[in-house]
Amino acid sequence: MARFFPPTYFRNIGVVQSTYFTDKTAMADSLTHKSRMLLKDTIRKEIDFSKTDQSRGAEQPSLQKPCDPRAKRIDLPTIAEWSIGKPPDLVSALFNRQSRRTYLQKPLSIDELGFLLWATQGIREHTEGRLKYRVVPSAGACHPLETYVVCFRVKDVPPGIYRYLPVGHELALEFTEDKLKEKLVKACQKQEFIGNAAAVFVWAALPYRTEWRYSLAAHRVILLDAGHVCQNLYLACEAIEAGCCAVGAYDQEALDRLLRVDGENEFVIYLAPVGKVQ
Ligand SMILES: Cc1cc2nc3c(=O)[nH]c(=O)nc-3n(C[C@H](O)[C@H](O)[C@H](O)COP(=O)(O)O)c2cc1C
Repeated sequence: MARFFPPTYFRNIGVVQSTYFTDKTAMADSLTHKSRMLLKDTIRKEIDFSKTDQSRGAEQPSLQKPCDPRAKRIDLPTIAEWSIGKPPDLVSALFNRQSRRTYLQKPLSIDELGFLLWATQGIREHTEGRLKYRVVPSAGACHPLETYVVCFRVKDVPPGIYRYLPVGHELALEFTEDKLKEKLVKACQKQEFIGNAAAVFVWAALPYRTEWRYSLAAHRVILLDAGHVCQNLYLACEAIEAGCCAVGAYDQEALDRLLRVDGENEFVIYLAPVGKVQ
């Protein structure tokens, strides 16, 4: 419903306005209104939390998607092992963080890639059972994301699409693909700089991991979770003379197809190309 303001309202706030005026908020149509509801937690009031899958005793979904036992795996160096140089202090990292879209040809080392993966999804505390605390926060510790890494220039890692396995801190080869660079750029609305990255982090959501606990209140917090993950990537990049750029614009179906995820129970929600920077 449009809201109308008398001319005096605009005079009072210093806007010269001779006729009646409609503000943008009031113009929001019902579709916008519905879409905005995702940003709000109103849905929580409508959920009977005694009936969520968790409350009904359904098994908690796996915190890591199973991996083909025949897949080639690469052990990633742990905190004690990696050599990534002296990182900047936190204040400098926060101050210098910015979206970087120009990358050097220099490859990332496996230590650097391992560090970035740990910083974004690494497990910091192995607790009993399924609950695992990670370097990033996640609503209900559900950790609904899988990290795919499209490797273009990582030392000793042949190009291909890999997946991070946080439980064992490993990288597993998912598959290789002809013309991977071209297909990825095309699936990302032709954002060419993505093809110049050394590696591209692609985060896919498995919504049931969070729905199991929060039902329809899951979807908003899944997106909030993803923000934390990408921010950690930004800051970790600052520690290794690398840079990244959050990317939220892409062709959903094309990217899901490229990653060979089903688009329903698992789908891409965010990505970030990474590379060494000047
Ligand atoms: C959710 C989100 C989506 C974004 N999507 C894109 C994108 O598709 N392409 C792009 O070039 N930059 C993208 N960016 C980067 C923003 O343009 C960038 O953060 C903004 O211009 C501020 O610059 P700064 O990060 O250097 O401070 C995105 C950033 C966020 C947080």
